[in-house]
Amino acid sequence: MKNLSKITEIEDLRRVAERKVPRMFYDYVDSGSWTETTYRSNETDFDRIKLRQRVLVDMDNRSLATHMIGEEVKMPVAIAPTGFTGMMWADGEIHAAQAAEKFGIPFSLSTMSICSIEDIATHTSKPFWFQLYVMRDHDYVANLIQRAKDANCSALILTADLQVLGQRHKDIKNGLSAPPRPTLANIVNLMTKPQWCMNMLGTKRHSFGNIVGHAKGVDDLSSLTAWTERAV
Ligand SMILES: Cc1cc2nc3c(=O)[nH]c(=O)nc-3n(C[C@H](O)[C@H](O)[C@H](O)COP(=O)(O)O)c2cc1C
Repeated sequence: MKNLSKITEIEDLRRVAERKVPRMFYDYVDSGSWTETTYRSNETDFDRIKLRQRVLVDMDNRSLATHMIGEEVKMPVAIAPTGFTGMMWADGEIHAAQAAEKFGIPFSLSTMSICSIEDIATHTSKPFWFQLYVMRDHDYVANLIQRAKDANCSALILTADLQVLGQRHKDIKNGLSAPPRPTLANIVNLMTKPQWCMNMLGTKRHSFGNIVGHAKGVDDLSSLTAWTERAV
């Protein structure tokens, strides 16, 4: 995005994403599972927090810089792992990792990312964090941990709350997949997102870079779907 000067709040970014990103990937990010109650609570709970203004205090040398797990950070915030980011925008995880590095906060790469561990290591110079879903295929999990070590990752985040995949109604209705299936509805929707399409044509990264070609028997999208259902 070239002109950020008119982006004044997160809602502006949400609208830009809704305009530019294909419906199935936009909905994946902007929705929750089942009744979406937790999704709504995430926002309403934060809305209730009020910041207390302090007056008549020395405000020189204000800084949010601190340490997180031994690493210096510009502010105590990290980019959380999100699946499918490289489908929101071409090479999305690489862009996010580079932006985090430039700003000075940690970036976490999801197991379910489009760009691989090695892609991020090649395109950044600081260690990043890797998020791991602990799956039934222990050889694959051990291999992922080794790949994260080889890429100099400085933290391993274990996600423990995905015993079963939550039912996400919009993902089912949209037929969420990477890359999108060429149904009529998807093709019509993609035609309204020319910049997304052009950028996607310019990258090779269209599937799950940490899985396809690494997990046993997962060489393409159809075998990936069957593997994911068995794996969690
Ligand atoms: C679109 C989306 C995708 C996510 N993908 C993953 C994932 O692949 N792995 C994971 O451990 N957590 C994933 N999460 C959870 C986030 O990492 C994070 O823990 C959660 O959103 C809570 O943080 P927040 O309040 O800042 O959103 C995802 C969340 C969102 C919204």
